[in-house]
Amino acid sequence: MQPPRRKNNPPNSETATTMKGKRNSSVSISIFVVVFTIFLFGVFIYNEDVKSMAEFTFLRSKAEDIQEAKPEQEETVSKNSRTQFENRQVEDSEEENREPIDLKAAVAEEKEEKMSEEYDEEKEDVVLPPEDCDLFTGEWVLDNLTHPLYKEDQCEFLTSQVTCMKNGRRDSLYQNWRWQPRDCSLPEFKPRLLLEKLRGKRLMFVGDSLNRNQWESMICLVQSAVPQVKKSLNKNGSLSIFTIEDFNATVEFYWAPFLVESNSDDPKMHSILNRIIMPESIEKHAVNWKNVDYLIFNTYIWWMNTATMKVLRGSFDEGSTEYDEVPRPIAYGRVLNTWSKWVEDNIDPNRTKVFFSSMSPLHIKSEAWNNPDGIKCAKETTPIVNMSNTLEIGTDRRLFVVANNVTESMKVVPVKFLNITTLSEFRKDAHTSVYTIRQGKMLTPEQQADPATYADCIHWCLPGLPDTWNEFLYTRIISQS
Ligand SMILES: *[C@@H]1O[C@H](CO)[C@@H](O)[C@H](O)[C@H]1NC(C)=O
Ligand SMILES: *[C@@H]1O[C@H](CO)[C@@H](O)[C@H](O)[C@H]1NC(C)=O
Ligand SMILES: *[C@@H]1O[C@H](CO)[C@@H](O)[C@H](O)[C@H]1NC(C)=O
Ligand SMILES: *[C@@H]1O[C@H](CO)[C@@H](O)[C@H](O)[C@H]1NC(C)=O
Ligand SMILES: *[C@@H]1O[C@H](CO)[C@@H](O)[C@H](O)[C@H]1NC(C)=O
Ligand SMILES: *[C@@H]1O[C@H](CO)[C@@H](O)[C@H](O)[C@H]1NC(C)=O
Ligand SMILES: *[C@@H]1O[C@H](CO)[C@@H](O)[C@H](O)[C@H]1NC(C)=O
Repeated sequence: MQPPRRKNNPPNSETATTMKGKRNSSVSISIFVVVFTIFLFGVFIYNEDVKSMAEFTFLRSKAEDIQEAKPEQEETVSKNSRTQFENRQVEDSEEENREPIDLKAAVAEEKEEKMSEEYDEEKEDVVLPPEDCDLFTGEWVLDNLTHPLYKEDQCEFLTSQVTCMKNGRRDSLYQNWRWQPRDCSLPEFKPRLLLEKLRGKRLMFVGDSLNRNQWESMICLVQSAVPQVKKSLNKNGSLSIFTIEDFNATVEFYWAPFLVESNSDDPKMHSILNRIIMPESIEKHAVNWKNVDYLIFNTYIWWMNTATMKVLRGSFDEGSTEYDEVPRPIAYGRVLNTWSKWVEDNIDPNRTKVFFSSMSPLHIKSEAWNNPDGIKCAKETTPIVNMSNTLEIGTDRRLFVVANNVTESMKVVPVKFLNITTLSEFRKDAHTSVYTIRQGKMLTPEQQADPATYADCIHWCLPGLPDTWNEFLYTRIISQS
C-alpha cells in the first residue's frame, strides 16, 4: 500500500479527495466506489449532515422540545463562552431532572410495592433458542398479536424524531412485523423479566444516532414493565442516562459517532462536513465505558460521506490541523483495532458483556427494490418480501467484513456480533421518512410534501425495527443466569 499523501489544506474540496483516491489507490478502491460515493454524498449524506444539526433535540426531554425554540438555543451555544456553555448544560440537565414524572412518584411507589409482591419468576418462563442458533437468518412475518411490543403513545420518553404516527404517518403496519429466525424462535418478550435481569446493572449504547435510536427503543421496552414507577432521564454532555430508581437500573447512551476521538464528538454542535478522526485515540471516550454491565457499540453512518477518511496528524489538543486521507475500510479497520484492544485491556468479561452492531442500512434508491416510481423510502408501507434476489441497496459491506472479522478475533473478551444489516435492509417501510423533525422542528406540510428533499431514510420509527434489534439483545441478556 502506498503511504497516504499529506495534506495541508483542510478546507480542500471533495473533488480533490476524489482525484487523490483515484491516483493513489490500488485497484480495489475502485472507480465504482468513487462514483458511488459522489452519488451518496449528493443524495443522502446531505440530509444526514443537515440533520445532524438537529439531532441534539433528540436527547432532550419532551417538555423541552415543546417549550424551547431550538434555533435560539443553538445560537446561545455558539455565541457564548465555554463557561457559559457549561452553565447552560447544567441548566439543561437540571431542567430534565424536574420532569413531570416526579408528580407520579407517590402513586408509583405504592403500585411498585404491589408489583414486586406479585412478581413471580416462575411465571416468566420463556423458551430460549439454542445457543448456537443463527438468530439473524430468517424472515419477517406479520404478527399483530405480539407486535408492536409497546405503544407509541405509552412511552413518554420517545422523542419527536421517531414518533411517526404522532407526526402524521397514516399506515401503521410497519409496527406489526416480527422477525422469525429460520432455525429457532426468539423468546417471547417479557419486559419484567428483562428489568429483573437489569436490576442493579448498567446497560450502555455507544455510537452514533442509530445506536441512539436503539437506546430510545430499549428505554421503552424496559419501562413498559413498570409504567407507573419513578424514572428519570438525565443528559450530561455526551452521556444520557435513563434510570429506573427502584431497580437501580440504567439504560444509557454515549455519543461517539466514530468510537475514537474525532472533530464530531461535541454532542450538540456536530454538524461537520469535514470529518477528521484520530484512529488510535480512544481513551477520552472510553473512560466513560468502564463499570458497565452491557456495552453495545456501533459506528457506520458518519463514515459514509467520503470515500476516504481524514486522519489527523498529531492531536486536536495540540491544535493539529494536518491530516492524511485513508481509504474508508482501512481507516475503519484501524479504528476497530484500537477499539478491540481497549476492550480486551479494560473489560472484565466476567462482569461485562460486549456487543457490536453491524451497519444499519439506508433506503435511498428505490430502483434497488424494483420501484422506479418510488421516492427514496417515502411511501413504502411493506418490507421487501422477495428475498430470492440479493439486495443491493448501497450498504458498504467492506465495513461489515472488517467488523465481523475484528469481533471474531477477540478471544480475551468475547464480543457478540449483532448481524442486523441484511434483515434491516428488507425494511424499506420502517424509516421515519417525512414524519420526523429537522433542525429541532417538525417538518412543515410543505416539507412533508417534498420527500425527495426531506425524507429521512436513515433513522427508524418507534415502535419499529430497532425493537427487533433489542429483541436480540434481550435474548442474550435473559440467557445469562
Ligand atoms: C448475517 O445475516 C445474514 C442474514 O440476515 C446472513 O445471510 C449472513 O450470512 C450473516 N453474516 C454473518 C457474518 O453471520
Ligand atoms: C390483525 O390482523 C388481522 C388479520 O390480518 C385483522 O383481522 C385484525 O383486525 C388485526 N388486528 C389488529 C389489532 O390490528
Ligand atoms: C446500583 O448499581 C450500581 C452499579 O450499576 C452499584 O455500583 C451500586 O452499588 C448499586 N446501588 C445499590 C444501592 O444497590
Ligand atoms: C457532568 O459530568 C461531569 C464530568 O464528566 C461532572 O463533573 C459534572 O458534575 C456532571 N454534571 C452533572 C449535572 O451531573
Ligand atoms: C473470571 O472468572 C473465572 C472463573 O471464576 C476466573 O478463573 C477468571 O480469572 C476470571 N477472569 C477475570 C478477568 O477476572
Ligand atoms: C423475486 O425476484 C426474482 C429475481 O429477481 C424474480 O425472478 C421473481 O419474479 C421475484 N418474485 C416476485 C414474487 O416478485
Ligand atoms: C481478519 O483478521 C485477521 C486477524 O485479526 C487478519 O489477519 C486478517 O487479514 C483479517 N481479514 C480481513 C479480510 O480483514
